[in-house]
Amino acid sequence: MMKLSATFAVLAGFIPYALGQAQEWGQCGGIGWTGATTCVSGTTCVVVNSYYSQCQPGTATSTTSTTTTASTTPSSTAGLNTLAKAAGKLYFGSATDNPELSDSAYVTILSNSKEFGQITPGNSMKWDATEPTRGTFTFTNGDVIANLAKTNGQLLRGHNCVWHNQLPSWVSSGSFTAADLTTVIQNHCGTVVGHYKGQVYSWDVVNEPFNDDGTWRSDVFYNTLNTTYVSIALQAARAADPNAKLYINDYNIENSGAKATAMLNLVKQLIADGVPIDGVGFQCHFIVGSVPTSFQTVLEQFTALGLEVAITELDIRMTLPETDALLAQQAKDYQSVVQACMNVEKCVGITIWDYTDKYSWVPSTFSGQGAACPWDSNLTIKPAYNGIVAALS
Ligand code: G3I
Repeated sequence: MMKLSATFAVLAGFIPYALGQAQEWGQCGGIGWTGATTCVSGTTCVVVNSYYSQCQPGTATSTTSTTTTASTTPSSTAGLNTLAKAAGKLYFGSATDNPELSDSAYVTILSNSKEFGQITPGNSMKWDATEPTRGTFTFTNGDVIANLAKTNGQLLRGHNCVWHNQLPSWVSSGSFTAADLTTVIQNHCGTVVGHYKGQVYSWDVVNEPFNDDGTWRSDVFYNTLNTTYVSIALQAARAADPNAKLYINDYNIENSGAKATAMLNLVKQLIADGVPIDGVGFQCHFIVGSVPTSFQTVLEQFTALGLEVAITELDIRMTLPETDALLAQQAKDYQSVVQACMNVEKCVGITIWDYTDKYSWVPSTFSGQGAACPWDSNLTIKPAYNGIVAALS
């Protein structure tokens, strides 16, 4: 399937330039588009929005795109969420974080439910933010984001209950018996998920349980409770909010390999044991020019088990400085990743890990890399936006 698609993509990328015409379903115009603006016979260049025109089957023989609007205001488009929902997905969303919410231009775009029908708090529902000392919970920042979602009519993803990172030291450096840590996890997940009961579409209950070689990550949870911490957390979350979809979320499981297999085996075991598990989140922190080739196949392996899947933290970084060639490749990469989700019915939605380079986590983590988001640091859309639109349309 993927090989055929790849072959078609190569051909589709070659023929239009050879003939000067875009193929059926190919892009034929839009702001920033530099490729063919006429369509092959039997198709018509239809303006989907200011950023994307497409050759759709129709009567005209060879129509020139009329998309010349110079506006770069994202809200003038149909919007990513509108397109995703029209295509049968539940949402297209973005992560956000409390410090960014003082930037009104940023919030205006984030709150545009045509673009984003879902938000995820990037930090403020994590353990260090919600239970900094044992038994003392603070929900102030998480509530701000939950309320923003409510005001905007957006779905909320909860992120996260149990993760090796961003733990307060009383957890990460604590010395617990198995029984004590079980109580700690039950209390934490139960209280946090319970606080947001009825407000959250899905929770990343367990985040990043595996090393890249598919072995279990060594942390206080695994070292004290072995693999049982996963079911302890999931059961506590289910009891606290029976209607929230419960996910395990990880990165580098998007290609076939040891880590994807480990995740597959884990969820098979959870299902066999009757542990509540509804979905698997694929973070999708990728690099321009190296997006996975077996992503759709992997997604289908999980949905075949009866689970839903979602792209939960998508961004595609590059080595700086940006060039036109890198931005064009990034657009193709965004398109192919989103297309994989589009091709899988039970891939319910796509979340980008913040929509703008202005607030991306990438530059502070990967020195010399960045420009990973579909909007640049001036909050202007990039070619990557067109790539997403192309997949959603
Ligand atoms: O909380 C402190 C604050 O007290 C201090 O003033 C400030 C000064 O820099 O730092 C704050 O902590 C930072 C925290 O974000 C909150 O802003 C940390 O230094 C910083 O490392 C942390 O980064 C977050 C990162 O997770 C931590 O691993 C990113 O914002 C967040 O986007 C990122 O998100 C993760 C997902 O949760 C899981 N998947 C990978 C993804 C990217 O790393």
